[in-house]
This record gives sequence, structure tokens and C-alpha cells, in this order.
Amino acid sequence: MAHLAVTSTMTSLLLLTAMFSALFIGQSLAVTSYIIPPIRSSGPEAAVIFVPGARIDGKAYEATARAIQAASNIRLWVALTGNYTLNNMATPLDLPGAMRGAYAKLQKAGMKGDKYVGVGHSLGGVFLPPYAKHSPLKAVVLLGAYLTKGNSLSEYPLPVLTLSAELDGQTRITRIAETYEELLKDISTAPASLYRTPVLNIAGACHAQFASGKMPATVVKYDLHPDISEAAAHRQIGQHVSDFLTVSLQIGDVTKGKAALRQAFNDAGTRFKVKDVL
Ligand SMILES: *[C@@H]1O[C@H](CO)[C@@H](O)[C@H](O)[C@H]1NC(C)=O
Repeated sequence: MAHLAVTSTMTSLLLLTAMFSALFIGQSLAVTSYIIPPIRSSGPEAAVIFVPGARIDGKAYEATARAIQAASNIRLWVALTGNYTLNNMATPLDLPGAMRGAYAKLQKAGMKGDKYVGVGHSLGGVFLPPYAKHSPLKAVVLLGAYLTKGNSLSEYPLPVLTLSAELDGQTRITRIAETYEELLKDISTAPASLYRTPVLNIAGACHAQFASGKMPATVVKYDLHPDISEAAAHRQIGQHVSDFLTVSLQIGDVTKGKAALRQAFNDAGTRFKVKDVL
């Protein structure tokens, strides 16, 4: 009996050790980030860190990220996180380590300052906001995603851009319209909410166009057929995110950035507002 007890204790210890090393090896070897250096040679610096949708490769956001760099005058760094350990999904278990890895890799690559902004697509946009609340991030961008219940726009501690697509078959425009309604209410008492938590929409774009390349089966199954090209969708994402970065980080022409957000907000309203039937 005593012998057995000792053996089982040893087995438990061995198991625990194995689990711990699997955890650490998992974190250091599996979740990675791919760095895209700035295209501007000078000026104030910032970085966007992408958190992918479920089973979408981190690199699938490279074209989207480059469109943001092209639209922005900020000396903008990019980190695309990827290779998540659990079914290639950015779960809350992996996210803090993935982000720590991204900050470290950006700094090592030469990123100066502390202006980090998180960009989450789809499921990545579900898990990013709770993490971001207590993190070095200065703002959050949600692509085909929204602040989930219990996180109101007005009480969320960071600026957040909710950027939706008209023909998104997974995160439907009807759901984003609720967030838009919430923003309308906020604006009626606090007009500056429009710039702190804008809710925008891209006409004719679909869920897959926030990324590029091969999409997982669920996206292919539910997404709608887009009316605009992927390049056109990326250009618009680039412009909206660039305007939001200018305004939320206070870098560059903030007045111009605000005017662009206001115009995009009005344009989105033409699709969000339920028109009278009669
Ligand atoms: C994922 O891992 C592969 C293989 O090591 C690597 O080539 C790729 O850059 C990684 N992706 C990201 C987004 O870090």
C-alpha cells in the first residue's frame, strides 16, 4: 500500500511536471507573431497588433495591415499574432502570452514608445476587449466583431472602433445596428462619443474581406457574396482604421481625422437605420 501511494505521488508529480513544461513549451514555441516594419521613415510611432478569427492564419491579415500602413501617416508597426495552441484559436488562455510576445518582438525590431493598438477580427474581436481592459493597449479595433453584452461602449475604458461589413454573413449588420443604436443614444448626451467609440460599416464588403486568402469552412459556409473587391475592402478598412488611430492616439491631423470619422458614421447610418415601411 505504502509503496503504491509513493508511486502514485511520483506519477502525479511527473504528470504535473509534464503538464507544466507542455504549457511553457506551448507558449514559447507555438504562439508567434509576424512583424511588418513601418513604411514611413520618420514621425511618431505606433503599432497595431492583430488577433485573428477562429482557425484563420495570422498571416491572412498581412494585406489588411499593409492597407492600414498605406493609409496612415503614422510610422506604423504591425504584429500579426498566430499559431495559437488550441485549434488555432486565440483563446483567453493564450491571449496574454501572445500579446506579451508581440510587444517584446516589436520592441526588439525597433518599435519606440508605448502606443499599441489591438485589432481583433471575428472571434479574436470577442476575446480582445476583455484582455485589453487591463493591458498596455491604448485603443481597440473590432473587425466583424462587437463589444459583447455587459460591456457598454460608454463604460468601456479604451477608445474602440467597431468596423462592420454590410454583407458580413457571420457578424450580421442587424446585430451591429444594435451597437449603432447604443452609440446614437450615447451621442445624444455626449457628442464626443462618436470619435471615442465610432461604429462604422463598409458597403458591399463581407466577413472574409477583413482578411485574405483561404477561409475556414464556417466562414465559407455562412459568409455572403461581396459586392466589392478585396482590394477595395482593404482600402476602406485602411482608411477607417487610420482615421481612428489619428484621433484616438492624437497623432497627426486630428481635426481631419474627426471629420472623416463623422462622414463615415453618417454614411454607415444610411445602412443601419431601419427605414419606414410605409
Ligand atoms: C506560424 O508558424 C509558421 C511556422 O513556424 C511561421 O512561418 C509563421 O510565420 C507563423 N505565423 C505567424 C502569424 O506568426
